[in-house]
Amino acid sequence: MSERIHRTIGILGAGKVGTVLARLAVAAGHDVLIAGSGDPGKIKLIVQILAPGARAVTAREAAEQADIVILALPLGKYASIPADALDGKLVIDAMNYWWETDGENEEFSDPSASTSEFIQEKLPGATVVKALNHMGYHDLEDLARPRQGSGVDGATAGPDTSGTDGATAGAGTSGTDGATAGADTSGTDGVAAGAAPTRAEGARATATGQDTEPRAAIAIAGPSPHAEIVAEFIDELGFDPLVIGPLAEGVRLQPYAEAFGANIDAVALRAMIDHFPETDRGRLVLAARGATAEG
Ligand SMILES: NC(=O)c1ccc[n+]([C@@H]2O[C@H](COP(=O)([O-])OP(=O)(O)OC[C@H]3O[C@@H](n4cnc5c(N)ncnc54)[C@H](OP(=O)(O)O)[C@@H]3O)[C@@H](O)[C@H]2O)c1
Repeated sequence: MSERIHRTIGILGAGKVGTVLARLAVAAGHDVLIAGSGDPGKIKLIVQILAPGARAVTAREAAEQADIVILALPLGKYASIPADALDGKLVIDAMNYWWETDGENEEFSDPSASTSEFIQEKLPGATVVKALNHMGYHDLEDLARPRQGSGVDGATAGPDTSGTDGATAGAGTSGTDGATAGADTSGTDGVAAGAAPTRAEGARATATGQDTEPRAAIAIAGPSPHAEIVAEFIDELGFDPLVIGPLAEGVRLQPYAEAFGANIDAVALRAMIDHFPETDRGRLVLAARGATAEG
């Protein structure tokens, strides 16, 4: 039976999504450090209530001490992220450009904007993977559940990798060492193929009779092998990970894309993400990005 890797998770942002993720990460057995924008004393009580077991610290402490750092603060506050403390770290960018809280920002509202690539530029010493941004915090809270058969050897029971139903075949994110395991996005354009743990197949293969519904899926965009480490973590949080390709593909998960807000299983999410170029938003984004690349 493969051992779960015990990690220290740092969460920058102790608001709606940060506290839910803290709770899920504690439940998954990790050490969790969570920070707001200032004095940890200000969030201590809220953390005790909403995410018991997590520890309130400064953003710098969370960044320095964590193995994986989740950005769960308003995107517009990116300049306050302690970038130097993130050198060498794996960073999950859960942020979105949300004009109501971030204010109108020309750069982010341009259809060519890829906000996680923007964050990667601002954090040159870190490796940024986009994930946990497309599902609302209520759904993150309500839909998390253990993988079917998680009492079985994680290395073989993983988010199911056996499926070869064509539409979704690919990504092994089997619960082995994240550095070496997982999502094979090789030889694909990272979008049209690969990387789908097959939710429905998994449910059939491991069903015990009490729960055959697929879990909800979380899409992940980022480089390998970091995306696979994130996939393993997301599986532990209670969702089927769906690696969709490199960081640039995160545009398929941003506000206005169909997948933004999605709380569906991996097969349906895969189809939705593949459908992006056929949508009005997809055409707009891809044309704008093509124009940027050419110009
Ligand atoms: N809400 C959702 O359902 C959801 C789902 C997925 C992703 N997201 C994304 O997640 C991010 C957070 O959303 P939210 O709804 O959780 O916002 P929120 O409830 O307003 O919480 C934002 C948190 O970020 C903290 N913060 C600000 N600057 C910080 C810094 N430099 N270091 C550490 N923490 C800092 C704030 O602390 P102070 O109070 O001290 O300023 C606050 O705790 C956004 O980018 C959003 O688009 C949201």
